[in-house]
Amino acid sequence: MRISEKLANLMNAQIGNEMGAALQYTQLAAYFEYRSLPKFAEFFFAQAAEEQEHAMKFLHYLLDIGAEVKIPAIGAPAYKVADTAAGFQMSLDWENEVTDQIHHMMGIAMDERDFAAQTFLQWFVTEQVEEVSTMETLLDVVKRVGEKNLFMIESYLERGEAPAA
Ligand SMILES: [Fe+2]
Ligand SMILES: [Fe+2]
Repeated sequence: MRISEKLANLMNAQIGNEMGAALQYTQLAAYFEYRSLPKFAEFFFAQAAEEQEHAMKFLHYLLDIGAEVKIPAIGAPAYKVADTAAGFQMSLDWENEVTDQIHHMMGIAMDERDFAAQTFLQWFVTEQVEEVSTMETLLDVVKRVGEKNLFMIESYLERGEAPAA
């Protein structure tokens, strides 16, 4: 196995974190679909699919370097969302949390001079910059527009002006 046990354990935990994020985004998508906001729902379904891909990237990396895959238990997503802004705030908080998890792993990969892991994790470092920025932008727009004018953001998403999911 060409990885330390410590880093392998964190990467296995990250499979669970990414799958947990996929569940949370799926739950949010359902919340928006239920509220007849299909563009918001579409956005979050797309986010959920991306998180699932992230989980698979960690899974395949572990297999590629000859480490065992151990998918951890994944908690239920939070399903109580006060309003749209709260949904985006939750998403931004998760993305910031994931960024910390990625940075933590990168720090260990650097300490351990695990260059392959550093290269692998670099993709996620860049990805998180985009993810956090997307959520910050949308949260900002939602806050400015307000709950009563959400249809405006639906058309904003439709025009593809929001950063890609
Ligand atoms: Fe992710
Ligand atoms: Fe994400």
